[in-house]
Amino acid sequence: MRALSRKHGNKSLNFSDEVLIKSLAVVRRLKEFESGGTMKRREFLRGTAAAAGCVWAYSPKLAFSQSADARIEVLLEERLGTISPNIYGHFAENLSGVIYDGIWVGENSKVPNIGGIRKELVDEMRKIKPPVVRFPGGCFADSYDWRDGIGPVDKRPRRTNFWNGGEAASAPDAHRYDPNRFGTNEFAHFCQLIGAQPYLAANLRSLSAEQFYRWVEYCNSPAGSTSLADERSAAGYKDPFNVRYWGVGNESWGCGGNFTPQEYAVEYRRFTAWVPSYPNAKDLSFVASGPNDDRWDWTRGFLEEIVRKGKGEVNNIYGLALHYYAWNLSRGKTNDWEKGKGDAVNFDAIDWYELLRQGDVMESLIKGHWLAMGEFDPEHHIKLVVDEWGPWYKPGSELTPGDQLEQLPTLRDAVFSGMTLDTFNRHPDKVGIGCCAQLINCLNSLYLAHEDRFCVTPVGYTFALYAAHQSGQAVRADFSAPSIHYDRDGNPASFWGLQGSASLHDKQLVVTAVNPSVKDALEAQIAVRGARISSGEASVLTGSDIHARNTFEQRQSVVPKPSQVRVDNGSAVFRFPAASVAKLTLQLA
Ligand code: AHR
Repeated sequence: MRALSRKHGNKSLNFSDEVLIKSLAVVRRLKEFESGGTMKRREFLRGTAAAAGCVWAYSPKLAFSQSADARIEVLLEERLGTISPNIYGHFAENLSGVIYDGIWVGENSKVPNIGGIRKELVDEMRKIKPPVVRFPGGCFADSYDWRDGIGPVDKRPRRTNFWNGGEAASAPDAHRYDPNRFGTNEFAHFCQLIGAQPYLAANLRSLSAEQFYRWVEYCNSPAGSTSLADERSAAGYKDPFNVRYWGVGNESWGCGGNFTPQEYAVEYRRFTAWVPSYPNAKDLSFVASGPNDDRWDWTRGFLEEIVRKGKGEVNNIYGLALHYYAWNLSRGKTNDWEKGKGDAVNFDAIDWYELLRQGDVMESLIKGHWLAMGEFDPEHHIKLVVDEWGPWYKPGSELTPGDQLEQLPTLRDAVFSGMTLDTFNRHPDKVGIGCCAQLINCLNSLYLAHEDRFCVTPVGYTFALYAAHQSGQAVRADFSAPSIHYDRDGNPASFWGLQGSASLHDKQLVVTAVNPSVKDALEAQIAVRGARISSGEASVLTGSDIHARNTFEQRQSVVPKPSQVRVDNGSAVFRFPAASVAKLTLQLA
């Protein structure tokens, strides 16, 4: 934690930046609805409809009912791009209980396992179609020697884990001193079991460029071709892992070397120059360490230095990693990383909205960094890789006492996650990969586990709902609903009333949305420009209490439930419960 305090200390979002201001247009559009004041949602929309001549003004071809609280207009002809499955990716760092006790239980464990990997986790993950998993960090990556984690298990060295400084004295040995029992082979096996692609983060701070390409060689050289391929075969992995995605350092502005963006760009070029490629992994996709939240100076400084060597240098970068955590729940009182954090499970309605407001900044960050990237890469060869995102609360809610950075996700985090995934879906041209931080026993976990106990969190169930978007054609969907108004310690504040995304899969339209209101359900009419809806079904994640969560004892408190969609005359009506995440599957005629 000491390292993190230094890294994030006094970090604040700078909303005055010119690029961000440009990108805030979307937020402004939503604010237009604020004139609804304290009117009930239904009254607000009726009033607006009347002013627009009883039909929604910007949608002359679609007649919306006046009785609905909200409307969703899907514009099939406005294709936004294909939603890469990789947007639904994961992050597993060797940090406290993520690997040891989370993913890895060991072959001799009484916990059901497949070659040492927790079986229940594998079974659950298969249901959500995980596309990609990032490993071994995070900050851990820049202190990791991949060679420690290969070869005969009884010969692997024990090393001090990067995160040791934050571990309690009572923490299990494996959390403080890395036994290296789970290394490259075991990670590749885990990926094979769940059907995901590995995304390895290389150590740029403390290993050489040679060690980087040797790791690539170990993973990708064909059986029998190199000594490292022989080492891999001897461990039982004859076939190459064909790892395509490689992170080149992590948070190189902080724990990954404390570089300036210009210094890092030079290192990036050196590390990625002439990395060998192998038959089944010819085009390696290198991910450069990118900005923390709104650090436009990092994005610009890095790319400016990259192209100083030639414009074509951008072709050697698949993605620029953006990290964004929502952590400041102080309601504007402080930017102190330690003091500003809120509680994961004890919160009021204002904390709920404040967290969502923090998370909603993601859209501005994507747009802002994309604009900045375009200054140096006008053809947008480089994608944004949001490989760490999620809420970050203060310690205290962990299900397994002592698990550093573990927190107990609630319904609030499910709504946050749905909102974030919808944001990614709305920008399929920009976001190449997304990795939720983190997979298990850490931050925005999809799963929690300790010894033989296991549960899926509301975040995990959100991923289960949203998996239906993978590989679909994202289409524009306009959500209109009156804003929510609340009192932020004496100051008026507001948040949008309904938001989501839509994707087309042949004749099937998938619409996901979150209703952020802590108390009001919202009846929305859904119409598709260019098609009629013939039938529909829905699945909803919600709870009667905004603090609802799953635990080892109560594993099914928050689970998706089927819900009815009314279809009439080519359009649909759906009631979004308060504090909910919903997926609608609509058949188009
Ligand atoms: O996800 C926890 C930590 O947060 C990661 O190690 C680091 O990259 C980020 O600061």
